[in-house]
Amino acid sequence: MSLLVGLFDSGLGGLTVLRQVHARHPHSPCLYLGDTARVPYGQRSPEEIRAIAREVVQWLRLQGVGVLVMACNTSNALAFDVAVAEAGVPVVGLIDSAAAGIDSERVGVLATPATAASGAYRRAIHAIRPHARVVEVGCPGFVPLIEAGDFQAPALHQAAREYVAPLLEAAVDTVVLGCTHYPLLRPLLSELLPPEVRLVDPAEAAVQRLGPLLASLGDVPEGERTGEPVLAPLQRTRLCVTGCADAFAQSAAAWLDPCPSVEQVALAPA
Ligand code: DGL
Repeated sequence: MSLLVGLFDSGLGGLTVLRQVHARHPHSPCLYLGDTARVPYGQRSPEEIRAIAREVVQWLRLQGVGVLVMACNTSNALAFDVAVAEAGVPVVGLIDSAAAGIDSERVGVLATPATAASGAYRRAIHAIRPHARVVEVGCPGFVPLIEAGDFQAPALHQAAREYVAPLLEAAVDTVVLGCTHYPLLRPLLSELLPPEVRLVDPAEAAVQRLGPLLASLGDVPEGERTGEPVLAPLQRTRLCVTGCADAFAQSAAAWLDPCPSVEQVALAPA
């Protein structure tokens, strides 16, 4: 038995989580929803983010997902309870997963404005390290620039310098990439931060939790599937978007190789 792993994000960012699910769970079928009609989420109000999460998770539930990975920090920060209430299956979060692995007292968090304003990372880290200094920086420019796909754009480099400045000033030694789009900026951020600063991608800890969870739900653990043929991500991933499928396929091809075909879906019945 292989449960369908559901993931969602506002756009491309969640693909950084999907790639890790592909790598660690080569037998799991995946369903990814990019809510590109409404990207970016990070400048929206908490009420909007919660209403969107309800609609998206209800749709994923109807598609029969067996487990849900929140591949969006903004939804995780503001609507984790909504996802848990609507999913009808276990939900894996990024924020608590990442916080559990922080081993520093000087932590920077780069995130969308909504995630930073929610204080969700600060609370999650303080629950484990009460004396840690946590500097959360909202980065409104990043997601639109990443979705536009030009990683050499001067505006992107300028924005990165601006967002990293408070982290340099606070001399943090750990930086959480608190938006799933940001691992795509790892090379740029590494250039701007001192080499000893550890960059944390929350998806790593979240996807590590997925194996035991799937096993507890009845999936055969990966380690016991050595004889089973591995299907290419292309053959076991359904990639859906609420906006333009062709535009998403074009951008996603840079991050998923090969990129599965992309389907446009309507979440709520018209
Ligand atoms: N990638 C998402 C996150 O992790 C959402 C970014 C956005 O749409 O603003 O926060």
